[in-house]
Amino acid sequence: MDSLSSEAIFGIKGTCIIAGDKSISHRALMFSSIAEGSTLISGLLKSKDIFSTLNALRALGVNIVTQDEDVFRVDGVGMHGLKTPDKFLDLGNSGTGVRLLMGLVGSQQITATFTGDESLSKRPMRRITKPLSEMGVQIKDNGKGLLPITITGRSSPLPLEYNSPFASAQIKSAILLTGLNARGLTSVSEPSKSRDHTERLLSHFGVFVDAERDINGFYKASLMGGAKLKAKNITVPRDPSSAAFFIVAALITKNSFITMPNIGINPQRTGLLTTLQEMGGNIEFTNLRKIGGEEVADIQVSSSSLIGIDVPAERAPSMIDEYPILTIAAAMASGSTSMNNIGELRHKEADRIAVMTKGLRMAGVTVDETDTSMCVHGIGDKDGFSRIKGGFRISSEHDHRIAMSFLTLGLVSEKKIIVDGVSTIDTSFPGFVETMNKHGACINKEKN
Ligand code: S3P
Repeated sequence: MDSLSSEAIFGIKGTCIIAGDKSISHRALMFSSIAEGSTLISGLLKSKDIFSTLNALRALGVNIVTQDEDVFRVDGVGMHGLKTPDKFLDLGNSGTGVRLLMGLVGSQQITATFTGDESLSKRPMRRITKPLSEMGVQIKDNGKGLLPITITGRSSPLPLEYNSPFASAQIKSAILLTGLNARGLTSVSEPSKSRDHTERLLSHFGVFVDAERDINGFYKASLMGGAKLKAKNITVPRDPSSAAFFIVAALITKNSFITMPNIGINPQRTGLLTTLQEMGGNIEFTNLRKIGGEEVADIQVSSSSLIGIDVPAERAPSMIDEYPILTIAAAMASGSTSMNNIGELRHKEADRIAVMTKGLRMAGVTVDETDTSMCVHGIGDKDGFSRIKGGFRISSEHDHRIAMSFLTLGLVSEKKIIVDGVSTIDTSFPGFVETMNKHGACINKEKN
């Protein structure tokens, strides 16, 4: 098995170049595929998850080529131009890839079978297939709502008014994508607002998406079927969820000062930054601007003594992917950090509550766990930077964010931490290890 270890360092420094945004990269490829005309995409994330989506779109008949090292050209096939693929669409580890593509296929008169790796094959899909079937899309799953799933779409699906049981950009996006060719208005209401990259990028392509609070105070996104997407070039911001590992690494290690240019700061993605600032983290934003409808900034971070806080439950959707790395910051803080309303973490690439709790306890940190919450009792002291004992080995459980989180914890460990199953990091951040080491980390290959 592929393994890495990470050891204590004297701080990270310099200008760190972070990989492109994963959520926006998936959407950029998918939306330009059904646009009229060709779209140039700059700064696309070149990771395994994104190549899974790219290959699926090619199998659906879309021509996608590299124009130069950093630019991809997608020749859109129009609103009804996708073809039935002659093979299964294997989305690997990618929940966003498979769920959004189901929505895209839902609005086409074609049939496609979706598969995935061991982790994706355990993740719940009825949250997507149930509303799509209400739109007249035919679904065949394995009887338990899991992959493999065969979808037969319709060129003119039924419009749907959907009340989502929880905030999820994947549910919202899949329904809106099927709604693009529906005969009428499709809307999704969610109890709090999940990331809105779909709404923003559809607007970028000229589709009007209405966003409002409904009478229950829910966030509601709606669009009228029948609009056409018009090709328009895109620049992808750098991923705040990938930057998160560098931010926490700089905060918890002594003598650190880093700058990360062009990071996406969409308010639905910045919950972790707000939380870390409330914990006492030195994090500053400069050069604020907008690219392609998304806010970006350069972010500076320096070493900080952190204190534990209660993370507001309603903040969860804006930092849903960041809890694993937040637990590392919480472990090094003084006092306790409580995180509530995070039951969704049990349905990510791994059960993130279970695996982070297990690893932190191995590191000597006290953690309380319930079905939907975690409380981490930090080992930090108010006057300086502490070190945990370390000296343990843990599996990523096919989860890139768990792998990167424990490698980050190794940077403040007396004895090295070994992480098994690290090739999963390539799903979202190829070059993570090289970039960390270039700026002062000590992460090395480890024998099995
Ligand atoms: C994503 C949405 C989130 C997030 C995932 C990416 C997206 O999932 O966890 O990593 O790009 O739409 P949910 O929408 O299920 O919360």
